[in-house]
Amino acid sequence: MGKPNLLKTSPPFADRATQLSRHSTPYRDPLARIHWERLTEHAFWLPEQAVSLYGIEEYDNLPLDVRRRLSHYEFARFLSAGAWLESLFLQRLARAALKGPRATRIYHLHELREEAGHSLMFLEFFERTDLDTAVLDAPFDPWLTALGRRLPFHSTLFWSAILLGEEVPDRLNRYVRLHAQGVCPVAVELCALHSTDEARHIAYGREVLRHRLERAGGLTRVLLGRALDTLLHRFVMTFYYPPPSLYLHAGLPPGPWAARAAAHPARRDFVAHCLGPTLARLRGLGLTVSWP
Ligand SMILES: [Fe+2]
Ligand SMILES: [Fe+2]
Repeated sequence: MGKPNLLKTSPPFADRATQLSRHSTPYRDPLARIHWERLTEHAFWLPEQAVSLYGIEEYDNLPLDVRRRLSHYEFARFLSAGAWLESLFLQRLARAALKGPRATRIYHLHELREEAGHSLMFLEFFERTDLDTAVLDAPFDPWLTALGRRLPFHSTLFWSAILLGEEVPDRLNRYVRLHAQGVCPVAVELCALHSTDEARHIAYGREVLRHRLERAGGLTRVLLGRALDTLLHRFVMTFYYPPPSLYLHAGLPPGPWAARAAAHPARRDFVAHCLGPTLARLRGLGLTVSWP
């Protein structure tokens, strides 16, 4: 007996797709929902504990305006990475919306509309700031880009990558939402709107992956766990560890700031704290994934 053809038959997660599509209606344009007039440079754009150098003595001794400026660049780079990842996903979703069972096509169109809304929200944010775009658009992980373009849409690895690609940045969105005190209200609104939609996208990705793993043998799970370790590491580096040039653009004195962030235990602990629920859920699916 061959594999079921998901392009012709309804997959078991079609009901979930229909339910999530209902929750995506009515659609409300995030561009029109954000109170853009509240954008201010006189506030942090990330909770300070979420800044990559937080807890390093030389950073703590920097003037307030420099520390704020770094949070502006780190937040904007985080959004820029989101726009990069979403552009890859949008391309794949647009093709998937052309074929397959109606329930999943409809769901993919909802997701397409929501991801397009997020990217528009990020670009609008950049339009309203004076940050140097060269550092925000500096190239992202080419290995992830290639995988995002080439993995077969219905493969287990593709949906594993999608799930991690949504969960890893979403954990920071949630952190911002929960630690909003003193953070620019527009940054908080943006994270909150994003994570509300992502909750549905993550629920769907998890459902697809759960279904795929039900039929996977022990060896497949072990191999997939190893692949997920690599994916997790790359997504974390992309979303939680800014490139070296960003620190100079933000106005910090020259120094190996990126290397110091990478080596700093407080940053590792912060990332582990953010990712804890994600790793626990993956373990619940029978996948052992770890962050050092
Ligand atoms: Fe998104
Ligand atoms: Fe998403």
